[in-house]
Amino acid sequence: MMVRDNRLYLGGIEAQKLVDEFSSPLYVYEEATIRERAREIQNAIDYVPKQVKYSCKANTNIEIMKIIKEEGLGIDTVSRGEVFASLEAGFDPSQILFTANNVSWDEVEYALSKDILINIDSLSQMEQFGKRYPGGEITVRINPNIGAGHHNHCITGGPESKFGVNYDRVADIKRIAKEYGLIIRGVHQHIGSGILDPEKFIMAMKVLLDVARNIDGLDFIDFGGGIGVPYRDSEERIDIELLGGKITEEFEKFCKEYGKSVILIIEPGRYLVAESGFLLATVIAVKNESNHRFVGIDTGFNHLVRPAMYGSYHEILHAGNAHGESTLQTVAGNLCESGDTFTRDEEGIVDRDLPVFNEGDVVCICTAGAYGYSMASQYNSRPRPAEVLVHEGRARLIRRRETLEDIFRSSLEI
Ligand SMILES: Cc1ncc(COP(=O)(O)O)c(C=O)c1O
Repeated sequence: MMVRDNRLYLGGIEAQKLVDEFSSPLYVYEEATIRERAREIQNAIDYVPKQVKYSCKANTNIEIMKIIKEEGLGIDTVSRGEVFASLEAGFDPSQILFTANNVSWDEVEYALSKDILINIDSLSQMEQFGKRYPGGEITVRINPNIGAGHHNHCITGGPESKFGVNYDRVADIKRIAKEYGLIIRGVHQHIGSGILDPEKFIMAMKVLLDVARNIDGLDFIDFGGGIGVPYRDSEERIDIELLGGKITEEFEKFCKEYGKSVILIIEPGRYLVAESGFLLATVIAVKNESNHRFVGIDTGFNHLVRPAMYGSYHEILHAGNAHGESTLQTVAGNLCESGDTFTRDEEGIVDRDLPVFNEGDVVCICTAGAYGYSMASQYNSRPRPAEVLVHEGRARLIRRRETLEDIFRSSLEI
């Protein structure tokens, strides 16, 4: 992303031109950023053998997944749909892990039929798996009793978390494995999403390594994802070199004691794609009412739910007048809920000092590449936007805009 002559360019193309060509609202992704982040994170960890698996829940656009595959990453999935998308993107089943929190046996069976390893989430599921597939191979997700993340909803370790088997249940894990002849290929954890403090990651890592010490014959240990990105200028970027260095140091120590070069896995999602993505929208109406200057745009939390759901901050730019004179404004969506605003925190509206927006202007909502489209809905019966990939001055449609037929066909066909 860059600003030239006060106008915003994405992947070398003027944002206004992208809207002219592909219409509004529109998700735009910069390919170069995805490749840069993928290389950065792989280079940050010196330890080998290692595998970085892209946690594709962040963004399941198949063309984006193909780019990530080209960069040599594997993939972390949590549903039949994500497994399907990963296979369509060309990932080999051996590169795919299926993390199965409360998923149905239909989904598990589908993944197994594709030769994909299942990451067991509970002792109950492990017992059932053992009965169904005695002698099968599994990974076990551990809750290290440490959690971290940008919002309570996204903290997936600790006593309030529904995920994994508590770290002190190793004896039960081994008992069930023995009873059904299950082979434990790896242990796994994921403590939360949006971690900007490397220490939390390392603390949890040590707990998982303690668990791993008590299980013989592991092929890999997977420390999950969660590495955060800055959403506002004032937020500091995580020192990925430092984190990678610490991960390597701890893991090398472990492998020496364990007597084997176990494969190290991490599963970033957000880190790889968040900063590549932008949601472009058009100003429909502006009104100065009692307390706020409302800038009404042609999208809403149906297309980017993070502000409404978590009170998340996303940088907002004026595509055609980036450094224009500014005033306090509320950027509001087009859905029938007053919570549908993009300039907000968890409590409600927080006006933002932004270049003055007028009808027809293009608004650019930044850092929307992760948990943007993948969490989008058809609420208010509005189709989801198109997605476009931009690179070195060229734009390519990577998902067409939905139509009303896409929304209603499944009920009209009954
Ligand atoms: C099991 C698992 N791994 C990895 C991730 C990726 O997290 P992030 O996008 O924060 O890196 C998630 C996100 O929820 C997850 O549930």
